[in-house]
Amino acid sequence: MIPAAPPLRPEQAWFTEARFGLFVHFGLYSAAARHEWVMSFEKQTAEQYARYAEVFDPDLFDARALVRAAKDAGMKYVVLTTKHHDGFALWDTAVSDWSIARTRGRDLVAELAEAVRAEGLHLGLYHSLLDWHHPDYTIDANHPRRDDADAHAQNEGRDMARYREFLHAQVRELLTGYGPVDYVFFDFTDPDDRGGWPGKHAEDWDAERLLAMVRELQPQAVVNDRLGLPGDLVTPEQYQPDEPMRDDAGELVVWEACQTLNGSWGYDRDNTRLKDPDLLVRMLVDTVSKGGNLLLNVGPDGRGAIPARDTAALAALGEWTRLHGRSITGAGPADADLAAAVAPGLPPGVVLTQRGDRLYLHLFAWPFGHVHLRGLADRVRYVQLLNDGSELRTSRTDPDQKAWNTNPGGQPAGTLTLHLPTVRPDVAVPVIELFLDPAA
Ligand code: GLC
Repeated sequence: MIPAAPPLRPEQAWFTEARFGLFVHFGLYSAAARHEWVMSFEKQTAEQYARYAEVFDPDLFDARALVRAAKDAGMKYVVLTTKHHDGFALWDTAVSDWSIARTRGRDLVAELAEAVRAEGLHLGLYHSLLDWHHPDYTIDANHPRRDDADAHAQNEGRDMARYREFLHAQVRELLTGYGPVDYVFFDFTDPDDRGGWPGKHAEDWDAERLLAMVRELQPQAVVNDRLGLPGDLVTPEQYQPDEPMRDDAGELVVWEACQTLNGSWGYDRDNTRLKDPDLLVRMLVDTVSKGGNLLLNVGPDGRGAIPARDTAALAALGEWTRLHGRSITGAGPADADLAAAVAPGLPPGVVLTQRGDRLYLHLFAWPFGHVHLRGLADRVRYVQLLNDGSELRTSRTDPDQKAWNTNPGGQPAGTLTLHLPTVRPDVAVPVIELFLDPAA
């Protein structure tokens, strides 16, 4: 179910322009190093979990280095977990002692905001609606205390109205203390009743008032759809939509796929199920070809350093985007008529994006010799490989020509044939750039 949403306003247009962002999950769970849900998975009590607050010291968290790594990977925005479900604040909050400001005298939101601005990227703040630390947050199917013998009785002393005041106060701090915020990612509303526990709904957060607060204090900010209310975009998580996403009425919507490198958002030391760089590049291309953004996550380790394996993934993405960024940034799906015309003649594994008068062919598999583009014979001014700017020769064959010995067969009238080198360019995904003739 995807409700209709108004299109982005001009001051939000940077978002779909950007196409590629960095998600950063960092908090006490990074010290546990076994998934950001460790408190819930292991049903740790608040007292048990508090030991991470004692030792957690992000001495190697370097916001500037993090933002540079994102920028070098071709990303245009960074979204940091201000607090995750464990409730621990990464900024200097006045309404709680459960923060990095109290334990280490740091304000990582301030550090990130400054770095993001210095590097000319956009700032996104992730904020958990769930809070397993707050004494008024009611126990539910996700809560670490869900299986306590007296769990239901514990809820009698908990008061969501008081939690809401706290939630709103913290969000207000984030929206007023750190300059312009470009993106707010609330997480998450889980309305299903499960295991004898009621789900949580928009009313539990007073989501309408929370959203109104964002609109009032940061009117330009893009807001996601996890408040239990429609937002500016939808956020598929850990899957790639198989086509451009649409609302229930069939209209295209703004969407952003959030993806991990290994299935965990928080640092997960022993989890080595890494997506290889070629897959990540293909996921990025796939996303843009369907009109979405990709928000790719890294989980800094217990000291705040980006794990070497994550750095390697970002570097590999950067190697590709350095040469091919213009098929991604500011690009989107190819014009529907053009895509429909060429589709039947394309070899397998060709994925299209378009930016104005440039059409991009991403070749997931390297074809032998030729790519035939139906309907484009009179619509293309120039064709080149994007990685090295080398011209690709083009031709048309007589449609009446039959395939015979060394003669290739004629293509349908109006087909433009591209002549490819035998050797595939040595890049993760080769890209062909076509300059469309605006007059045609
Ligand atoms: C989820 C998870 C979470 C992660 C997030 C990222 O809903 O609860 O741990 O932060 O999605 O999208």
